[in-house]
Amino acid sequence: MNNSKQIAENPGELVDMFSRTISYLRLSLTDRCNLRCVYCMPEDDEHKLQLLQHEELLSFEELLRIVKLVVGMGMNKLRLTGGEPLVRRGVMDFIRSLADIEGLDEIRLTTNGVLLHEKAEGLYDAGIRKLNISLDTMKPERFKKITGSDLFDQVWQGIETAGRLGFDVKINVVAMKGVNDDEFVDFARLAVEKPYQVRFIEFMPVGDHSTWNEASYISSTDLKKRIGRLGKLEQLPGCRMDGPARVYSITADDGSKGKIGFISPISHHFCDTCNRLRLTSAGRLRACLLHDREADLKMLLRGGAGDDEIRALIRQTILDKPKGHTLAEDQLKCSGQMSRIGG
Ligand code: GTP
Ligand code: 5AD
Ligand code: SF4
Repeated sequence: MNNSKQIAENPGELVDMFSRTISYLRLSLTDRCNLRCVYCMPEDDEHKLQLLQHEELLSFEELLRIVKLVVGMGMNKLRLTGGEPLVRRGVMDFIRSLADIEGLDEIRLTTNGVLLHEKAEGLYDAGIRKLNISLDTMKPERFKKITGSDLFDQVWQGIETAGRLGFDVKINVVAMKGVNDDEFVDFARLAVEKPYQVRFIEFMPVGDHSTWNEASYISSTDLKKRIGRLGKLEQLPGCRMDGPARVYSITADDGSKGKIGFISPISHHFCDTCNRLRLTSAGRLRACLLHDREADLKMLLRGGAGDDEIRALIRQTILDKPKGHTLAEDQLKCSGQMSRIGG
């Protein structure tokens, strides 16, 4: 089918003030989640979660309109995030509609894996081939401590199902000193034993209630030293579609190989090659994960704006995209809510 054929009329309109071409949209479908990871959605008496009401989310029709517009402007890659994107009702039909948009080369998904066992086949049929799955521990007891739920086995089953179905699986491990640093070598071993790329992410100070503190941060340089105990690490040539991760091959002593990625927003930020724009679950355009400035796209949409007006706001947000984050100067803090922004 294609009544939604998109042609980039003016690809130059996606270039920002620092000559970066913004080709990739991250769409947070919901701020809701079926886990409560301590660094993202801590929930206790002190930190009461402020979740959006359903009508505060953009509807799937509104989202499709935006995606068609940005693809028409020249964007070609989309990542669905959350919260947990798979908890939003109707998400599978939505993905199938996205897959019909000509010019959208790839739709990827970041998930916590809880619903994967149940939904992996449908996702594959809908055209998704690449999944990033969050997993910070392989110890069931610790999983419960970090996420608040006793669902390690279910997530693991989801990962294995996805692997069996032929998805390109990347496992996201947020590296946290004193929480999971005794498992880094085990995760590296996983990358050797299974066809999954394991990516270690430097813990970022995002969110007012995050458990982040300087003592919990561990740099990729330190991580590499620890992982080097398992085998030899060699950096692979960069690939633009790999986004912020620097990817290495690891060769264990017995000759078996795997792939390890390091995402180092703090120690080696990648802002000068950033190609991303975000649409938060509250319907706000955000040019940088680590800058709180947002533009209210939802207000424009619901005020009856025409396509030209919406394109103009997207264009302006891209022009306002900061050169890079300033966490160091801002004393390492960004107050946005990760579950609304989508990471
Ligand atoms: P691909 O490049 O498409 O594989 O995606 P990704 O690795 O960017 O996506 P994913 O959702 O798996 O994010 C992995 C980690 O990278 C998360 O901790 C994100 O918050 C972080 N991340 C993704 N994009 C950016 C970015 O533009 N800036 C910063 N600072 N961190 C980012
Ligand atoms: N620092 C680094 N990564 C984070 N994520 C969530 N919060 C943080 C943080 N403070 C990761 C999740 C998920 C991805 C979208 O972002 O674990 O894999
Ligand atoms: Fe892009 Fe901001 Fe991330 Fe830098 S910190 S890579 S500018 S989103």
